[in-house]
Amino acid sequence: MIKFYDIYRQDKHLHNVFIKELKKHFKKNDFILGDSVKKFENNFSKYTKSKFSVGCANGTDALYLAIKSLDLPENSEVIVPAMTWISTVLAIINNNLKPVLVDVDKKNSLILINEIKRKINSKTKVILPVNLYGSVVDIKEIKKLIDRKKIFIIEDSAQAHGGKDNYGNSIGKYSDMSCYSFYPGKNLGCYGDGGIITTNNKKFYQKLIKLRNLGAKKKHIHTEIGVNSRLDTVQATLLNLKLNSLDKLNLKRRNIANFYRMKIKNNKIILMEHSKNSVYHQFVILVRNRAKLIRHLKKNLIQYGIHYPLSINKLNCFVDLFKNQKFKNAEYIAKSCLSLPIDPNLARNDLKKICDVLNDY
Ligand SMILES: Cc1ncc(COP(=O)(O)O)c(C=O)c1O
Repeated sequence: MIKFYDIYRQDKHLHNVFIKELKKHFKKNDFILGDSVKKFENNFSKYTKSKFSVGCANGTDALYLAIKSLDLPENSEVIVPAMTWISTVLAIINNNLKPVLVDVDKKNSLILINEIKRKINSKTKVILPVNLYGSVVDIKEIKKLIDRKKIFIIEDSAQAHGGKDNYGNSIGKYSDMSCYSFYPGKNLGCYGDGGIITTNNKKFYQKLIKLRNLGAKKKHIHTEIGVNSRLDTVQATLLNLKLNSLDKLNLKRRNIANFYRMKIKNNKIILMEHSKNSVYHQFVILVRNRAKLIRHLKKNLIQYGIHYPLSINKLNCFVDLFKNQKFKNAEYIAKSCLSLPIDPNLARNDLKKICDVLNDY
C-alpha cells in the first residue's frame, strides 16, 4: 500500500530527542504556557519574519481568536472563499459575524480577487483569504481593493507553513494576522492539536495573549472575556524540534510536485496550478469520473485524499445560510478533486508507480 502520508516514517529519527526533551519538562512540571511555548513562539516569529506569534489550541481557534481580537460589531461581514475547510467559516460564525462567500479560481482553488471587489460594502470588516493546498494568495492585490477603507486582512495559512508570496515575502507581511494549524498531517504538525497566530501589530498581540488564556495576561487579572485555548508545552516542545526540518521537507514536496507535473500525461486528468512559492500541502488533480479513478487507485493500492468533497455552501449545517447561492468553480472542484500522496519521503519507486497508474487510467 502506498500511504497518503506517513508521519511515523517522517519523524522517527527524532523520536529519541523528543523523549529526552519531554523528560526535561516532566521533571520541571512545566505543562501550561511554559518555556517551550515561549521559545516556539519566538522561533516561529523568526521563521515567518513576523514580530509576534501567539500559540493556541488548534487552527480553528487561531482563526476564532484572530477575528475576536478585532472587536467587531455583530453581523459585520467577513469575506471568505467558498472552497476551504469548514473551520475558516466556523470561526466567523462563532464570533457572531456574517460569512460572505466568494468563488475560487478554477485553476488553483484560491479566492478570486476580482470577485472580492464585488462583495465589499460598508459592512465588510474582514477579508479572510485561505492559502489553500500550500499556495499563497496575493495579499498585495487584495490590499489594493481595500484602498483606505478600514478592512482587516486575516490569512488562513493552516496549509501553508513556510510559504512565500509571489514576490518572495514570507506569509503575513501584508496581512494583519495569519493563522496556522499544527494538526498532525500539516506541513508542520504536532502530536495532537495545536495552532498559532502571527502578527506584526503589537496591539493585536497583546489582546491575543489574553484572549487565549481566559482573558488574563497575569494569573487572576482577567481583563477580557477570553477562552481557554493555549498551545500546550508538550506540543510546543515537539514543534520546536520539528521546525528545523520544515524547509527541507517543503523542498521535497516541491520536487515531488515537479515530478508529477513532468510524468503525469493523461488528458482525462487536470493538474491544479499552484502559486509561485507554494509549499505543496496537497497535490490536487481534477477528474470527471472520480469514483472510477478511486476504484483504479484502490485496485493498485494507492491511498488518496479529497480536499474537499463539498464546497462551503453545500455543507449540511450551512445550507440555509447560503440558500440559493451558487459557486460554480468551488462546486466543480468539490465534485472532481482528488489529492495524490505528497508525503515528502515518498519513495521514488512509489512515485513512479503512482504516475504509471494514473497514465494507465
Ligand atoms: C484551511 C484550514 N483552515 C483551518 C484549519 C483548522 O485547523 P485545526 O484542525 O487545527 O483546527 C485547517 C485544518 O484542518 C485547514 O486546513
